[in-house]
Amino acid sequence: RKRVFSGIQPSGNLHLGNYLGALKNWVAIQEDYENYFCIVDLHALTVPQDPKVLREKIREVAAIYLAVGLDPEHCTIFRQSRVSEHTELAWLLNCIARFGELSRMTQFKDKSRKEGAESASVGLFDYPVLQAADILLYNAHLVPVGEDQRQHLELTRTLARRFNHLYGETFVVPEIMILETGARVMALDEPEEKMSKSSPRPASYVAILDEPDVIRRKIRRAVTDSGTEIVAAPEKPAITNLLQIYAAMTERKIPDIEAEYAGRGYGDFKKDLAEIVVEGLAPVRERALELLENPAELDELLESGAGRAREAARPNLHTAWARMGLD
Ligand code: TYM
Repeated sequence: RKRVFSGIQPSGNLHLGNYLGALKNWVAIQEDYENYFCIVDLHALTVPQDPKVLREKIREVAAIYLAVGLDPEHCTIFRQSRVSEHTELAWLLNCIARFGELSRMTQFKDKSRKEGAESASVGLFDYPVLQAADILLYNAHLVPVGEDQRQHLELTRTLARRFNHLYGETFVVPEIMILETGARVMALDEPEEKMSKSSPRPASYVAILDEPDVIRRKIRRAVTDSGTEIVAAPEKPAITNLLQIYAAMTERKIPDIEAEYAGRGYGDFKKDLAEIVVEGLAPVRERALELLENPAELDELLESGAGRAREAARPNLHTAWARMGLD
């Protein structure tokens, strides 16, 4: 069976973008692959985190993984920090990654813009190399992610090819899997910006764990464009975003939805969209809250997942060592 690897950072609140761009797809494909779904807690440390909050968020992500329907029978669910092979391989890859190529990563440029690259952590700069290690360590064939990860995945492929070229065939060069709809969910209050966990504006995202009434309010207040027509078009980024969310949630085609709402107003459309999102997320929320009442069980799941992940990872790290002359 081919392997799938993907991960989410336990920073901030998981939102509709994470659900539609990643989680929903993971659930859909899980039975066809051997899956490793990681909580990338070391990546979360690349920007400041409050230890107390981080501890809670890690469990929250584990609960959400299960609540959306990931099945531990098909998926190994674990924490990155508990499988030290990730950081060990990252070091080997650090030594073939180039300063120049990391300097060109747009996510680094975006995230370090606020305070300037001078005071960004070295971890933030090195982030994509750890991500490459995550994936290559398992020889994953397929990496299902949202559109914002494309550049990181291209770097992963470059590093795999470079390593293979320098030291002989070692790593699988992974394929990127990005869905057509839902891969780039934009902020509800600013459709030129992507929906983001680190946003200080709660109105910009629908959190997976938001209460139904909060979801309804956020969607009601989502910005719209001038005009009244419900159509996807470049000059209508806000309605286009809402249509994409609608399409991804219902697995319907956008033209189909446009036709249904022809001649109807934004208000009607948003009301229906809110109910669709509530209907999709409410069961996830309820299940996640239930699971969070029993943190010991979640911890156990993560522990046993780490054990299995390590077993898969260890031999590949040893191969990389040997190829580089460290055997
Ligand atoms: P993170 O935690 O930012 O996001 C997790 C997943 O959600 C997707 N995503 C979105 N999809 C659609 N619309 C959005 N607005 C949106 N925001 C986020 C992301 O594309 C991602 O799939 N670097 C990764 C974590 C990571 C990883 C990995 C992923 C670390 N190692 C190895 C894959 C493989 C990240 O920051 O995800």
